[in-house]
Order: sequence, then structure tokens, then C-alpha cells
Amino acid sequence: MTKVAAQQKQQQPFLNDILEIRRRAREHIEQGAVTDGYKADRATVLRVLNEALATEIVCVLRYKRHYFMASGIHSQSVAAEFLEHANEEQGHADKIAKRIVELGSEPNLSPDGMLTRSHSEYVEGKTLVDMIREDLVAERIAIESYREIIRYLNNDDPTSRQMMETILANEEKHAEDLRTLLETIAQEEKHHH
Ligand SMILES: [Fe+2]
Ligand SMILES: [Fe+2]
Repeated sequence: MTKVAAQQKQQQPFLNDILEIRRRAREHIEQGAVTDGYKADRATVLRVLNEALATEIVCVLRYKRHYFMASGIHSQSVAAEFLEHANEEQGHADKIAKRIVELGSEPNLSPDGMLTRSHSEYVEGKTLVDMIREDLVAERIAIESYREIIRYLNNDDPTSRQMMETILANEEKHAEDLRTLLETIAQEEKHHH
């Protein structure tokens, strides 16, 4: 290699590597989206994504239960919020399941052990305020564990990381919705007494 070519290679490592990338992409095409450049530990990523999937499914079930059980003065607006969250958690679950398939695996949707795989809990709650509080706790657990998953994925699997970042932003919004609901109910209750 001439001195100029060596300099060019240093300056444009990506352009020089494109032929090699193309060659490697043709190998193992049965692996679909998983190429040789996939830097993450695939087994760990799949385990972590299946745990996130279980977390979402448990959240769907808990929000659905709360939606059907919501009663009292504030029940209508709160129930609407529960239903909206349930549907959004289902959307998250679908995204995660799709990503697991893209990574060449199968989503674990078995009810067996779902609660063990899930980070958040399924708490029914007796009153409307109980339910909102439990949902807020579950959101805060999801926020913490998703943040950790994002840190773990780092630059090794940017697609999964970006997906988890989008979901995390939505969980933060859910937590804020619930905090606002609790505040509103507490204030109105003060006025009644
Ligand atoms: Fe979610
Ligand atoms: Fe959420």
C-alpha cells in the first residue's frame, strides 16, 4: 500500500471497509438482521428483552384489571388513563417481541413464569388511589430496569437500545401522568373535608 493510500485508509476507514462488510453480509444470510458486526452478547440481550417483554405483559394485565375495577368519583377519568396505559404497554410488548424475532429468536409469551421474568409486580389494589400508587411503583421499577438495559446495550446493539429508549420515554410519561392523578385526587379530597 502506498503512503497516500494508507493515509486515505486512516481517514476513511468506513469507505475502505465497505467491501469487507458487503462480503460478510453475504455470509450467514440465514441469520437475518444479526451480522458479524453484532457486538452484543446475543444470549444476554435475548434474556433481557424477554424480561422486558414479561414486564410489559404484566403491566398490561394490571392496568386492564385497574381499568375494569376503577370506581368512585374520579373513576371515569382515571379509568380512561388506565386503559390508555394498558394499550401503550401492549404496544411496547409488541415492539419487543418483534425485535426478539429480528434477532433470530422467539418471544417468550408463556404464562408459565411470566411473573418471575417480569421486573414489575402485579398488585390489584383495593381503592382507586391504591391502584394508581401501585401503577406508579411499577412504572418506576420499569424506568429503573430499562435505564439499566439501555446502559448495557450501549453501542453493541444500537437498534435494541433505541427501541428501549423510546419505551423508557413513554414509561416516564406514564409515571408523570400517575403522579399528577394522585396530586389532583389529594387536592380535591382536601377541598371536600
Ligand atoms: Fe411499557
Ligand atoms: Fe408504562
